Amino acid sequence: MRVVVSVGGSVLAPDLDPERVAAYAEAIERLAAAGCEVGVVVGGGGVAREYIETAREIGANEVELDRLGIGTTRLNARLLIAALGERASLAPATDTEAAAAALRRDEVSVMGGVTPGQTTDAVAAAFAESVDADLLVYATSADGVYDADPNADPDAAQFAELSPAELVEVVLPMSRDAGASAPVDLLAAKLIDRAGLRSIVLDGTDPSAVVDAVLRGDHTGTDVVPPDADEPNRWTEER
Ligand code: UTP
Repeated sequence: MRVVVSVGGSVLAPDLDPERVAAYAEAIERLAAAGCEVGVVVGGGGVAREYIETAREIGANEVELDRLGIGTTRLNARLLIAALGERASLAPATDTEAAAAALRRDEVSVMGGVTPGQTTDAVAAAFAESVDADLLVYATSADGVYDADPNADPDAAQFAELSPAELVEVVLPMSRDAGASAPVDLLAAKLIDRAGLRSIVLDGTDPSAVVDAVLRGDHTGTDVVPPDADEPNRWTEER
């Protein structure tokens, strides 16, 4: 099974804790040991926000801010690479083609951001599409996709499952509202829809949640299931 895991910076490195990074590396290694081809896209988290806010006050423009953000995603990616050791690519790939090439070389392919104007949510979807991944997992600080922003609306309800087209519909109004935080951004949702990518959005605070979701389909987040997808249990072949 070929899987791309998007690890939010706020999940991997809310602060710089070597044990948390090592635990993530161990979870990724468990997937590889179970026979998965694994690509990982790492986000910037709080560090990215601090750099971006500081540079914004200095007067940097949006592209410059994005480049700072990309730099922090690559720093976090290097942290994970350091914890993964020889199994991983030597350095974060700087585009999805190089990341796909690393996967072909049988490496755990780790990357951060690539180009201004997007986030690593979209990078992960493009990477998954380019390698025809069987599964795309978003390990985030949100525990799934909700019908409204759960931080703002106490009546927000979590979807157990929705289609990629429905994901786009849910994320679209959130992307218009500057205050709302979408579980995955709009570009990512559109790529998931275009490519018909089976995806899972889950709380990645505990890295073993990613292992359970990938190897057993066992999770409490949200499944994004294309209409013509194979039966949900196809990943159990790897057990
Ligand atoms: P993240 O992917 O971590 O952004 O990239 P995010 O979704 O805001 O973070 P989480 O999910 O809350 O942790 C950090 C920043 O890096 C820039 C953007 O400015 C983004 O906000 N970035 C990242 C890009 O410009 N291009 C990329 O391909 C990736």
